[in-house]
Parts: sequence; C-alpha cells; structure tokens
Amino acid sequence: MKVLVVGSGGRDHAIAWKFLQSPRVKKVYVAHGNAGIAKMAECVNLQDIEEIADFAERERVDLTFVGPEKPLSAGIVDVFRARGLPIVGPDKRASRLESSKCDTKVLLRELGIPVAEFAIFDDPDKAKKYVKSVGYPVVVKADGLAAGKGSIVCNSPEEAEEAIHSIMVERIFGDAGNRVDIEKRLYGRELSFFCFTDGETVLPMVAAQDYKRAYDGDRGKNTGGMGSYSPHPWLTEELSERIMEQVARPLVKGIKDRGIRYEGIIYLGLMLVEERGSITPYVLEINIRLGDPEAQVILPRLKTDLVDICEAISEQRLKDIKLEWDPSYYLCLIAVSGRCKGRKGWYKGYPDRYKIGVPIKGLEDIDPSCIVFHSGTGIGENGEFITTGGRVFGIVSRGDTLAKAREIAYREMKKVSFEGMYYRSDIGRE
Ligand code: AMP
Ligand code: GLY
Repeated sequence: MKVLVVGSGGRDHAIAWKFLQSPRVKKVYVAHGNAGIAKMAECVNLQDIEEIADFAERERVDLTFVGPEKPLSAGIVDVFRARGLPIVGPDKRASRLESSKCDTKVLLRELGIPVAEFAIFDDPDKAKKYVKSVGYPVVVKADGLAAGKGSIVCNSPEEAEEAIHSIMVERIFGDAGNRVDIEKRLYGRELSFFCFTDGETVLPMVAAQDYKRAYDGDRGKNTGGMGSYSPHPWLTEELSERIMEQVARPLVKGIKDRGIRYEGIIYLGLMLVEERGSITPYVLEINIRLGDPEAQVILPRLKTDLVDICEAISEQRLKDIKLEWDPSYYLCLIAVSGRCKGRKGWYKGYPDRYKIGVPIKGLEDIDPSCIVFHSGTGIGENGEFITTGGRVFGIVSRGDTLAKAREIAYREMKKVSFEGMYYRSDIGRE
C-alpha cells in the first residue's frame, strides 16, 4: 500500500521510517519532508491542505498520517473525510484539545481530571492583579498554538507580570496570546504519556522523558524538546493503569459525551506529584499527536505494525489490537542551531533567533546501529547537508541500560559538527 505522511520534522521522519518497516507498505510519500527524509521516502512539496488532498486522491494513497498539530487543527482530517480519502487523526473539533489550552483546562476540571489550580484571562490588567494576589509561583500559558514555547514558568509575581505583558501586550505569540491560562506551578517529575484511541477503546502506549528547557540542568527557555528517552523510569504498570483510569479514559469518554469522536493519538503531558504517599498524575497539557522528540524513541520500541494499528483505529476495532514493545532503552539527543556569529552581530540560538544554511559535517560517519532523524536540514549547493531550522537532527541510540544508550548517543554526536552546533550534555543522566 501507499502511505502519505504529513510533516517535516524529526518526529515526522520517525513516522515515515516506522511505516517503511511495515511489510504491507510499498511506498511512503512525505509532504513536505526534509533532506534526511528524502533519503528514504519520496518528499513532495505541497502548499496547503487542498493540495495535499488532491495529491492523495491522484496517487490513490491508501493511508494518510499527520505528524504535526497545525494541519490537524486547521482541519485536514475534515477535508479528507469530506472527500472520502482515508486518513487517521483527530478532526478540527477534537483538535481543540491542543489548540486551546484555556478551553481544555475548563473541560478537564469539569471531568474531574487532576489539573493545577488555574484561572483564565483575556484582560492583561486583571491577569496581572491576579498573579500578585495568589501568593504562589505560577506558569503563564498562551491559549493557542505556539510551537511548544507558549508556556512561561515564573519564579515571582514580577516575572509573571512580565510574561503576561509579553504574551498579551507585546503579543510575542500573536493571536495565540488573546487569552492566557495562569496555573499554579507544580513540582514533581514530568512524563509524556501516549495512547491510541478510536474514540471508544483507549490503548496505552509507553511513556518517554522529554527535556523541554534549552540548557543543562533544565535551565533556559522552553523549547520544542532537546532530547528524550524511553522507557520512563517512573512508569510502572500500576502507574500506567492509574493514568488510564484518572486521565485517559475519562477524557475520551468526556469528549464523546459532548458529541466528539476522537480518533488517533493522544499525548498527555503530565506532572507526577507525590501527595499523601501516592502519585497523582496532573495534566499540564494535552496534545493531539506524537511528541517531538518523543516519537523518535517510542516508535523504534513499537513492534506492532503501525499500518495495522491505523486500520484498526479507522475501522473502530482497536480493542482487537495488542501492542508489543521492545523493552530496551532508546535515547534521542538533539543537535540545535545554537549561539553563533552573523553578519550583523550574534545570533542567540534556538529557541531564539538562529542562523541557517550552515553546512553539516560528519553525519555519514555515525554508527549504523544508531538512527539519525532529521529535523531541519536541506541540501546545499555542493550537495552537502545544511541546516534549515532550530532543531537540526537527532541521534537515536539503543542500549540494554539507559547509561549505555546515553554513552552511545554522546559518542556518536562527537562525530558531527556545524557552526553554532549545540546540544545538552545531560540527556539521560539520571
Ligand atoms: P505546556 O506547554 O503546558 O506543556 O508547558 C510546557 C512546560 O512548562 C511543561 O513541560 C513544564 O515543564 C512546564 N509547566 C507547564 N505547566 C506547569 C505547571 N503547572 N507547573 C510546573 N511546570 C509547568
Ligand atoms: N516534545 C514536546 C512536544 O512535542 O510537544
């Protein structure tokens, strides 16, 4: 069969790679992909949802799978369904779970799912008054999509006021900052937990540890993710069942009761907080897709054919699927475009402004036991790989222990270089 993957980042590379492992798949197209993806699949440059649908129809694509949140939130699933084209993913209404943090928080509270105390504001002055009055540290979150950078963790009321000012007055995230969700800051251990659902059955996948902050020791700004590993050391069978019971199943049922059938992947961004001798999984955010860079360590662990899972979701028989996982450790180390000199001064580096078009050396020397998933790469004038984004590529290593996987990824990363290259030195250091 022919599969079309929509996306162009490291996660989307991992999805295309996973589909290529299926004996049922003959051809994988990616819209629009990147230079690394183009080495294994056919990249097609399509401008918008209608063009993607035209392509899927013309090429008789058997299954379309969407990596990023933007096309899902823009209604790609609705367009495909209206045209009778096979696609797996949440429709526009279901995608609100990610595209409005404020509405989702209200829904979660209604459903009795654990969330931090919060309040929602569309007026910056009222929001500023609130953060001065609460007496505890808060996190200020832009309501809409902001590429993983829309939440600002604050240490003081002054920092919170600044965050409100940048989001709502300076509008650093544009319309995504029309409203803010202001949450009590929680302290605990973060975990990215994933499920497949057909709207009825919810199947737990495994969890991953993501590293959101730019610098070692979880300092610096929030990014899309600087590294990841799986399995997550805190995820026991018992905790997985508690997350299913307290969060995943009530969520899918709750939205179904509101007339929305959710099909695809649910990503729960959780903070595990130890309270009264047990762990409560608080929901920080819900995403409607696989994580990046969590997909890069979860998909290599998935032994079950992704095509079989997608078909079962579309045909509403997910209950018949049993997921199988490799128990080994996989670790993903991301290299980003960091601080470097430009013509008119210094670039601060990802997630701030960064330089692109820089040649990358040494990717071909990486040991074949590792997988290299590209995020922001292109091909330069001399046929070499060049940087085109903030996150550039990730090396995924496997080990029987986390320490082994970590050692391999760091050893291999040393073989690669480009101007301004930066990666955290503490990914997988427990
Ligand atoms: P979000 O965009 O909601 O996933 O938040 C991005 C990151 O901000 C999370 O991965 C956490 O590290 C941090 N964060 C979000 N909400 C909270 C909270 N209530 N308490 C502490 N940290 C938070
Ligand atoms: N790694 C976080 C995300 O994909 O949203």
